[in-house]
Amino acid sequence: MKSISVVGSGTMGNGIAHIFAQHGYEVSLIDIKSEFLEKALTTISKNMDRQVAKGAISQEEKDASLSRISTFTSLEDGVKQADLVVEAATENMALKLDIFRQLDQFSPPKAILASNTSSISITKIAAVTKRPTQVIGMHFMNPVPVMKLVEVIRGYATSDVVTKTVMNLSRNLSKDPVEVKDYPGFVANRILMPMINEAIYSLFEGVAGVAEIDTVMKLGMAHPMGPLQLADFIGLDVCLSILKVLHEGFGNPKYAPCPLLVNMVEAGFKGVKTGEGFYQYS
Ligand code: CAA
Repeated sequence: MKSISVVGSGTMGNGIAHIFAQHGYEVSLIDIKSEFLEKALTTISKNMDRQVAKGAISQEEKDASLSRISTFTSLEDGVKQADLVVEAATENMALKLDIFRQLDQFSPPKAILASNTSSISITKIAAVTKRPTQVIGMHFMNPVPVMKLVEVIRGYATSDVVTKTVMNLSRNLSKDPVEVKDYPGFVANRILMPMINEAIYSLFEGVAGVAEIDTVMKLGMAHPMGPLQLADFIGLDVCLSILKVLHEGFGNPKYAPCPLLVNMVEAGFKGVKTGEGFYQYS
């Protein structure tokens, strides 16, 4: 594997492009507008500066890594050389299915098609392609350059050889991959989102305030961020949509999103990205 295409240059996409380039892969970063791509390259450069500052990589390694990233606004041009495509577009089912139909059409027949989806079924995504054995989930965690986990999700039809290739590839990125099956929320979000939802319920029911709930989990359980701060960091709209997938997928009321979360998202309070969620950011 030499040539990796990354579809979507937002927070997850630019982090994924960053680590592939840093580990010697040629990266084609694709988005619909050139200004999104310019912003992504600036973010990658700043994040690599942090690594240079602490001696994790040299300035020469940073420059070489950046030179391995090419940008494209045409999906067709961006994937035609790909050995692997990692899709990291917005978490929207119709959009992802449409992207995968195009990836199947434009990428080489041997290419593996991966999705960084946090909760959409890999089996369903694979079913719109003519190569379901070569479709897999590669779920990176935010911030991608820092977090060690890749949740590797096997769809119903994903082959053993493709799973093995993606597990090994993740190790080549200095990540620790974990193989999981394709059921709602996989493992990471099946466990994380009910915890976040319960923290929001604790606030909603007046058990404690925002800072108090987060302090309990940070100091009591050694979590790097409290659940409400983490929800702001992930995006409250993303948390809500994952909870809906769990709720619908299992048909179990224990996953029902807290009404406070629903209201906050309706009101546009989506966390860090909108400047306000459980905390204010400005
Ligand atoms: N790129 C490169 N380096 C980065 C970085 C980035 N984007 N962001 C942070 N860093 C580095 C910093 O340079 C720093 O490095 P050193 O310790 O070597 O100096 C280190 O990471 C810690 O960063 P900070 O000092 O700025 O801040 P912090 O100590 O508060 O850590 C954090 C920040 C790593 C985000 C930490 O708070 C954390 O681990 N939070 C929890 C993150 C988490 O749970 N992520 C998973 C979210 S769920 C998800 O992604 C999946 C989903 O489907 C929803």
